[in-house]
Amino acid sequence: MELNDAILNRRSIRHFLPDPIPRETITKIVDMARWVPSWGNTQPWEIVVADGEKAKTLSEAFENEVRKGNPPRPDIAMPIEFPEPYKSRYMGLGRSLLTSMGIARDDAEARARHWMNMYHFFGAPACLYLLIDGALNEPYSCLDLGFVGVTICHLAVQEGLGTIFLAAAMHYPDIVRSVLDIPDTKKIVIGLAIGKPHPSSPASLFRSERDPVEKFLRFA
Ligand SMILES: Cc1cc2nc3c(=O)[nH]c(=O)nc-3n(C[C@H](O)[C@H](O)[C@H](O)COP(=O)(O)O)c2cc1C
Repeated sequence: MELNDAILNRRSIRHFLPDPIPRETITKIVDMARWVPSWGNTQPWEIVVADGEKAKTLSEAFENEVRKGNPPRPDIAMPIEFPEPYKSRYMGLGRSLLTSMGIARDDAEARARHWMNMYHFFGAPACLYLLIDGALNEPYSCLDLGFVGVTICHLAVQEGLGTIFLAAAMHYPDIVRSVLDIPDTKKIVIGLAIGKPHPSSPASLFRSERDPVEKFLRFA
């Protein structure tokens, strides 16, 4: 597959098939992704895969937290408020995604169901947890983690798989640490769900928009 095709075919999948992904396939993808650059070649990424029973245990525990009304307590602070024009893009994404899924603005039940689905990795059979050591400089190590993460997304497309980065998967990092046996010295940065995209579900086919290149690229 051409790189351009992998880039253009990648999208966030919000409806996966339950079929398990062979561990060899995940290993093959990550083995290739490790060739991304990092600050001073520090390679700060650590990846722990939750699949099978572990993925199930995690999503059930997350659902429990959400039902109890416990707010997220992430290791890495999440953005609270976006200024314009970012806020409009953020709100626009939510609107167009829910519309494409046939969920009306006032359908609180369907919205809550979609929200809860997020904590179940949208049905993905596996979630890759991207971690850094707590002793590292957070912004630049997270940048490096982003490189490896998005490369995994593109390689997954090449394997006929789909992915989605999930902040929701790291809302309760103490649970992740406990279920996946991760020491307290590690920070859970992001979850990356992986699996086979549902072939026809709107939540699997949805495409987000982008501003045209002239809007953000200039030659000084
Ligand atoms: C760091 C990060 C965290 C994200 N967390 C979530 C999430 O919790 N739930 C969700 O539905 N999408 C999440 N996404 C997916 C974004 O909404 C998505 O990447 C964006 O809308 C662009 O769409 P695309 O990935 O389909 O191109 C996340 C993406 C990133 C990069």
